[in-house]
Amino acid sequence: MRATMNAKELRNAYVSFFTEREHAYIPSSSLIPENDPTVLFTTAGMHPLVPYLLGQKHPAGKRLVNYQKCIRTGDIDEVGDATHLTFFEMLGNWSLGDYFKDGSIRMSYDLLTEVLKIPLDRLAVTAFEGDDDAPRDMETYGIWKDLGFRDDQIFFYGKKDNWWGPAGQTGPCGPDTEIFYDNGRPRCSPSCGPACKCGKYVEIWNNVFMEYNKNEDGSYSPLSQKNVDTGMGLERVLTMMNGAKSVYETELFMPTIAELERLSGKKYEDHIKDFRIIADHMRAATFILGDNMGIAPSKMDQGYILRRLIRRAIRYMRKLEIEENQLVNICKMIVDRYSDVYPELDKNKDFIFRNIAAEEEKFSKALDRGLRIADNMFRELGNEKIMSGELAFRLYDTFGFPIELTKELADERGISVDVKGFDDRFRKHQETSRAGAEHKFKGGLADSGDETTKLHTATHLLNAALRQVLSADIMQKGSNITPERLRFDFNFDRKMTPEEIQKVSDIVNDAIKAGIDVVCEEIPYEEAKKAGAIGVFEGKYEDIVKVYTIRGISKEMCGGPHVSNTKDIGGFRIQKEESSAAGVRRIKAVVGNF
Ligand code: ALA
Repeated sequence: MRATMNAKELRNAYVSFFTEREHAYIPSSSLIPENDPTVLFTTAGMHPLVPYLLGQKHPAGKRLVNYQKCIRTGDIDEVGDATHLTFFEMLGNWSLGDYFKDGSIRMSYDLLTEVLKIPLDRLAVTAFEGDDDAPRDMETYGIWKDLGFRDDQIFFYGKKDNWWGPAGQTGPCGPDTEIFYDNGRPRCSPSCGPACKCGKYVEIWNNVFMEYNKNEDGSYSPLSQKNVDTGMGLERVLTMMNGAKSVYETELFMPTIAELERLSGKKYEDHIKDFRIIADHMRAATFILGDNMGIAPSKMDQGYILRRLIRRAIRYMRKLEIEENQLVNICKMIVDRYSDVYPELDKNKDFIFRNIAAEEEKFSKALDRGLRIADNMFRELGNEKIMSGELAFRLYDTFGFPIELTKELADERGISVDVKGFDDRFRKHQETSRAGAEHKFKGGLADSGDETTKLHTATHLLNAALRQVLSADIMQKGSNITPERLRFDFNFDRKMTPEEIQKVSDIVNDAIKAGIDVVCEEIPYEEAKKAGAIGVFEGKYEDIVKVYTIRGISKEMCGGPHVSNTKDIGGFRIQKEESSAAGVRRIKAVVGNF
């Protein structure tokens, strides 16, 4: 009989199993990847570990274990079925050039059969069948055989199914062996296997043998070390262990579903998909807002995904005839359920609730009007059963309708939407507003002359000094410069002490007195990143960026302009240190010859 566990027991059992086998536990990283502008969210536990898979030494050692918050937006359309989620937790263990296939597979087997107590005949596994890039993985096959697996429990597949990574466009990747729970139902056809979608096999764990790097030209080269990267979906395993019908019928979602039943007066069984979408999207939105990066709903990047999740949930709430302003209560339940494991949710709860309430208020007004206009648009299409990208964009631009919402409304009327046309139009719109923002930024600085230029360089020194005094994790959350003062927001969760403020101020003033040249280079973004330049980057991967270096103190990507030598700043004084938002502090400072 398999064991029964709740989520907390499962996380703990996984971590203990690997710490007992010399793995160091590392906490979950942010949902927002810090060093990879090619993706918006952390999609797997390995994502924050890329530099270490490439050979850099990890301070905690060569064997690691954790559970990682992940978001996958590619699966949004499948949300509502039994297994797909936007946000999920991934249990993972890693070998950074330590054990390889044998160690990894045997440990997985022991955990599955001894800790989770899954009988061997309820498991099925896969291996890479081989192609021009890498050979057929007979070693993996041999290890599973040795552990007692029959040939009809081991399946070979190609790259599409049995190769994982890289997480972005380039980076570490390799063949994998996936482990499936077989629910014991008969095969749906003679070719039925783990790659079949009939539901007999549910993927629970993936062990990736990361020995390759995918290069920009699409080729693969061997890495300097052979790594193991594994990922187990916490929600899926929990579902299996408790014999639940789907991930939603577990303790992680049932309280939300019960609350939705109460609020709507409707039964989950009669509206399964609507309930599930709300429960999934609100959990994902709560975690994005609750991350320390302070992402709020917006028109760009992560903020745009967040907005779509919240708005889609609002639409389904209306569909279930739930009154307005109930989203915050659902978020509160989610924060309560997860705060002991992810304390940042509690720390940032005011930020979460404030933004959810604001978004609901903003969108509720537009929703009813937008629904009426959309209805007219659909009617005017007459026999034409396709809505153009331009019309869908108009619904977005005027009423803030996410494309999913427009697609669903169209679907309900047997109409399809030109999504590609919408995407093209949307991209054009984003490029225009981005160019507009840059223009404004440059114009603003050029107009206001010497003082802002000095304050701009002082901001770089301040950023560097905060990283020295408080923590290397300090990141700019916002910056605003007028000719009178600079204002700098950064992630930090308590008031700075007077000593810390003094220290930061001393570092900046010492750098000013030292008269260091400020050197500007224009180099490809990737090179800047490699050189350790910090900065908020919003362009494309292949872009050339300006990097300003103040030798020995600061290296930062930035549009400028800056003084040519730090002594031009004269002097620096911090006027105020205060809270700006949950987990975000704000410093106001001035420059001059005091
Ligand atoms: N990184 C691997 C995955 O996400 C383990 O499946």
